[in-house]
Amino acid sequence: MRGTKAPPLLELRDVCVRFGFVEALKSVSLRIGRQEVVALVGDNGAGKSTLVKVIAGFLQPGFGHIYLDGEEVAIPSIRAADRLGIASVFQGQEFCDNLDVASNLFLGKEVNTGGVRDDDVMNSRARQVLKTLSSAIRVGSPISSLSVGQRQTVAIARTLLNDPKLILLDEPTSSLSVMQTAEVLSYIKRLRSEGRSIVMVCHDLPDVFAVADRIVVVRQGRITGVHRTVETSYEEIIAEIAGVATEHEYEEIAEDPKYERMVQQNKLIDRTMSAALEGDGY
Ligand SMILES: Nc1ncnc2c1ncn2[C@@H]1O[C@H](COP(=O)(O)OP(=O)(O)O)[C@@H](O)[C@H]1O
Ligand SMILES: [Mg+2]
Repeated sequence: MRGTKAPPLLELRDVCVRFGFVEALKSVSLRIGRQEVVALVGDNGAGKSTLVKVIAGFLQPGFGHIYLDGEEVAIPSIRAADRLGIASVFQGQEFCDNLDVASNLFLGKEVNTGGVRDDDVMNSRARQVLKTLSSAIRVGSPISSLSVGQRQTVAIARTLLNDPKLILLDEPTSSLSVMQTAEVLSYIKRLRSEGRSIVMVCHDLPDVFAVADRIVVVRQGRITGVHRTVETSYEEIIAEIAGVATEHEYEEIAEDPKYERMVQQNKLIDRTMSAALEGDGY
């Protein structure tokens, strides 16, 4: 409607999740736009996976509202999420090693024609979704013959079977090599260019800065910052993850072993940037 702002693709309002005495999410509100990549960052135990699981239909919030396209929805199960156009990849979602790629893609969602398992339909659909990501994987190969990176590709391809609007990825690049990571990041960009939105949990700030449109910092069950990637910096994000003020305390956390890796990555990028800016001084 003219003059009326379209509602976001997904909105969470005041979502609370509790595990016994642990308040994993404390009144979390978040909007996900169309065709955007949102990265969730934060310390271990901050509540990132819990947040993703609520959207995925894995976990039911104790309190709160979820709106999809402006309509309040309940997401009581993965299947319900699937019907709403929400698909997810979690760590530790296992494959059946003795089955081929196509069978793994359709695990639990086998296509039947006239009561009979229809391998032709599944194979051609499997080929179609895999082709959009990677040409190197054959649908007839046993899963056990694939590399870790190729398995991640299959896991992402699996989310595409129902043509979802929103894809949730929990640590999609952890345990991948540099090359494999670059490949997964390029898939994420491709999915966005097809009009989908992606919410990804990610530890590695270079990956986050490479693909995310917005960065959401989760700390102790709350969202403590939402930034457009182009308007923020490593320092700001690291300081927010650690819960310190940027200017004064950043130097202190730079020595904390917990944040050492992030700070090192930041320095490395600074060095590369200034080398690039200095140009060919050699
Ligand atoms: N199934 C569960 N049972 C009990 N506590 C849980 C469960 N899942 C997560 N938690 C707790 O909730 C908090 C948030 O966890 P999580 O969302 O996994 O954090 P993150 O993904 O940011 O590392 C942590 O304190 C964690 O121990
Ligand atoms: Mg997690």
